[in-house]
Amino acid sequence: MDYSELKVPNHVAIIVDGNGRWAKERGLPRIKGHDAGFDNLIKLSKYILSKGVKVLSLYVFSTENFKRDKAEVDHLMDLFVLMYKSKLREFNENNIRVVFSGRDEPLPQKVIAARDELVRETAGNTGGTINFCMNYGGRAEILDAVKKIVASGVDVSDWEEKDFAKYLYQDLPDIDLMIRTSGELRLSNFLLWQNSYAEFYFPKTYFPDFHEADFDQAIVEYTKRDRRFGGIKK
Ligand code: FPP
Repeated sequence: MDYSELKVPNHVAIIVDGNGRWAKERGLPRIKGHDAGFDNLIKLSKYILSKGVKVLSLYVFSTENFKRDKAEVDHLMDLFVLMYKSKLREFNENNIRVVFSGRDEPLPQKVIAARDELVRETAGNTGGTINFCMNYGGRAEILDAVKKIVASGVDVSDWEEKDFAKYLYQDLPDIDLMIRTSGELRLSNFLLWQNSYAEFYFPKTYFPDFHEADFDQAIVEYTKRDRRFGGIKK
């Protein structure tokens, strides 16, 4: 789609949801839904950044997701390692910088190593940033920031919000458009600080079926939204 008449958000965030139901509808095991979601995620991310979006945050594993069956968690951990092995070249060819948000504990060492390599080897890329939220929780992020600030002993008495934001996992701009696929209408502890003034979009489509034309529709809808940031329309 031609985006010249549309408003392009600077920071888009997606809660990747519906992989399990996508698989179930097809009589497949849940992990097949994650495989399909993974393939779609890489393709869609390239498209989104090619349209002028500067930052794309993706909720791919919450701290709560560790409560799932071990086999499903292990499969997702393997996919994170596979992403480093099989997609590093593609990220570099597309000039995409990769960063991560989330806690280390209790990620397996192989995932931490793959994550850190991916960050290091794409650090110089300038064609847009993907922020993978992995083992991520929004309240945990705010709490971790407070702990860092207290440990540093810095005087916060004249701080503004932007000074606090520097202590979050990544210092990224506010989210403009937040998409959650699969028809669920919840934020689920996702980027609580950064989503303060985001426009929300909730398509019913399961993530493995959320393709480029579906993203175009989200941008058409976003373009119609009247963003006032708490002010009054003049
Ligand atoms: C939510 O669907 C999805 C997840 C918890 C995992 C998302 C992971 C991927 C897209 C693949 C791995 C990604 C990378 C970056 C390697 P769900 O399982 O909650 O679906 P359901 O609500 O239908 O059960």
